[in-house]
Amino acid sequence: MNMGSSNILSAIDIHRDFRIAEGTVQVLKGINLTMNRSEISAVTGASGVGKSTLLHLLGGLDRPTVGSVRIGDVNLGEQSEKSLARFRNDHVGFVFQFHYLLEDFSALENVMMPLLVAGNSRHQARERGELLMEQVGLTNRAGHRPRQLSGGEQQRVAVARALANDPDIVLADEPSGNLDTETGRRLHDLIFQLNDENGTTFLIATHNNELAGKCDRILEIKHGVLGEKV
Ligand SMILES: Nc1ncnc2c1ncn2[C@@H]1O[C@H](COP(=O)(O)OP(=O)(O)O)[C@@H](O)[C@H]1O
Ligand SMILES: [Mg+2]
Repeated sequence: MNMGSSNILSAIDIHRDFRIAEGTVQVLKGINLTMNRSEISAVTGASGVGKSTLLHLLGGLDRPTVGSVRIGDVNLGEQSEKSLARFRNDHVGFVFQFHYLLEDFSALENVMMPLLVAGNSRHQARERGELLMEQVGLTNRAGHRPRQLSGGEQQRVAVARALANDPDIVLADEPSGNLDTETGRRLHDLIFQLNDENGTTFLIATHNNELAGKCDRILEIKHGVLGEKV
């Protein structure tokens, strides 16, 4: 089981090619990465360099052309689509630039969703959901639909949803990319607070130097490989 290890994620020699009409594009060309539990790191790099592609591979939303990803004791490449979907729900949190909240459900119900999918009772899901809404400072917005919330509030709900099942890692892809500077800063503060209070591991793709500068490590994708800036 290797329970004592603080190594929560490892990616070994990941390549990702995309086939397009003109031929094959090699976006990632041998990425290696290990992350420790409770680490908070940034992935930077120019637009189009493969940050989103990497996060999708690390979270099991996509499969590498070559290479392997392990989260905890699970080798993602050995999982069927069905078990991978289950694994993502239970072990990985995602936050995107756009919130992707379900419009027909309240903020609280959106946060409860991954808990219900994981098999919790409605009562358990509601209790945990309410606690998370409180942690992200939105207790008084629990009954609101996503469109009744500001952009910053929507992203805080998305963060609460990502944390629902106390994931091994949260992958955040430009989480403040659609927010103004001040609202973005408050979202970053929340992320660092949650990292601190809950020990949640975060990997954040970002263009924001201020955010990257506060992280434990700054990783940069260049020419398809990952380097470390600090
Ligand atoms: N499904 C796909 N099919 C073809 N090309 C893709 C696909 N997804 C991403 N790409 C290409 O891979 C490169 C990296 O994209 P992306 O990971 O979105 O970059 P970033 O997030 O760093 O801006 C881009 O050139 C993009 O066009
Ligand atoms: Mg991207």
